[in-house]
Amino acid sequence: MEAYKIRGGKKLKGEVVIQGSKNGCLPLIAASLLTDEPVYIKNVPKILDIITLLEAIKSIGSKVKFIDDDTIQIENSNINYNINSDEAKKIRGSITLVGALLARFGKVIAPLPGGCHIGTRPINLHLKGFNALGAEVQVEGQTIDGKGKKLKGDKVYFDYPSVGATENTMIAATLAEGETIIENAAQEPEIVELADFLNSMGAKIKGAGTRTIRIEGVKKLHGTSHILSPDRVEAGTFMIATAVCGGDVVVKPVIFDDNVPLISKLRELGVDLRIENGKSVRVISKKRCKAFEIRTMPFPGFPTDLQSQMVVLASVSDGVSLITETVFENRFMIIPELKKMGAKIKIEGNTLFVEGVEKLYGEEVNAPDLRAGASLVIAGLYAENITTVNKIYHIERGYYNFDKKIKALGGDIWREEIKE
Ligand code: UD1
Repeated sequence: MEAYKIRGGKKLKGEVVIQGSKNGCLPLIAASLLTDEPVYIKNVPKILDIITLLEAIKSIGSKVKFIDDDTIQIENSNINYNINSDEAKKIRGSITLVGALLARFGKVIAPLPGGCHIGTRPINLHLKGFNALGAEVQVEGQTIDGKGKKLKGDKVYFDYPSVGATENTMIAATLAEGETIIENAAQEPEIVELADFLNSMGAKIKGAGTRTIRIEGVKKLHGTSHILSPDRVEAGTFMIATAVCGGDVVVKPVIFDDNVPLISKLRELGVDLRIENGKSVRVISKKRCKAFEIRTMPFPGFPTDLQSQMVVLASVSDGVSLITETVFENRFMIIPELKKMGAKIKIEGNTLFVEGVEKLYGEEVNAPDLRAGASLVIAGLYAENITTVNKIYHIERGYYNFDKKIKALGGDIWREEIKE
């Protein structure tokens, strides 16, 4: 199995090009199932989660190919509604296939989705969305079983603005009869990107990015071509890495509004962040950051996907930071690993008390999940001596060429085969 080896202590310097958005891409792949015409998605990173979802749709008859390095063509003229694929079990994003197949066929059989073990990750809100549209969807054992009826638009209220459930309901409602109104919808940038994509296929969606989304069902959707937005989590990861290690890094392209919660927080802590040409963020970090407080929240609150990176920043900042996780209940798996490296962290319920230290020390650590894994790499870039990060397949599910990009910024990182 491969591991990253990192010799810490180097400042980061240069320019990093951000990949297309992982969480933006997954629902678009699902939405492509709504039409039998070809769909093109550009700026697609060849990361494991995306490849896995593409394998899952191939198993129901989708024809998928990369027509150049980062453009996929998906053609779904001859697909069925029974996903019987191990790939779909591996990732959380496969749940959005359910909404698409229900919309297209009125029925679906699919395995329960997988993904990072950062919480129990129930699908009750997804089911609420489908059932409100008149589908009869049940979970039997490890299988999602949706029985056939023509979907009908209705009102759906979410007790919590779930990103996945909002996406799934939007996708399902595009071909339903009449109007669907989603109340307390998620407002994440990925929702807006999905609405833009669906509208370019002929859907009629209004209000994406606000708490109320209205979808007027249409009879048929057609093919489209779409350029994926930059990955806000990858961009944020490199901004935080620069704040931790010190240096001068241009992160591009970045959609400023998508990263506002992080950019404003880093500025508060003393990091010099400059927006250049409206498209890049130059991060200049010369001194130790001040301690801080954050609380993860649905967008536009502070993103949970950048929480563990901020734990690393807190670990080396000046003073005691408070970090509260409100979105997922099991997102502190990085803590024992970071403590091995010398971090001083206490957990009380869903809050971390992080006492900043001046030094971290290289250790052998395990990536517990995707974002925590990337955060351990950041810790390794700061730490004295050599850090080994095992289980990097977690990291590579979401970051394309992570080690190469870090190396290009001057980080001393390499891959090594480790005997199990
Ligand atoms: C998506 C992102 C993930 C991000 C998260 C929150 C993808 C593939 N993943 O995950 O990277 O961290 O948004 O921004 O896009 N919940 C329920 N019932 C449901 C669905 C969700 O209780 O039916 C709960 C979850 O357990 C969690 C919270 O709602 O506590 C947020 O989950 P949700 O917004 O659905 O996240 P995902 O779509 O799974």
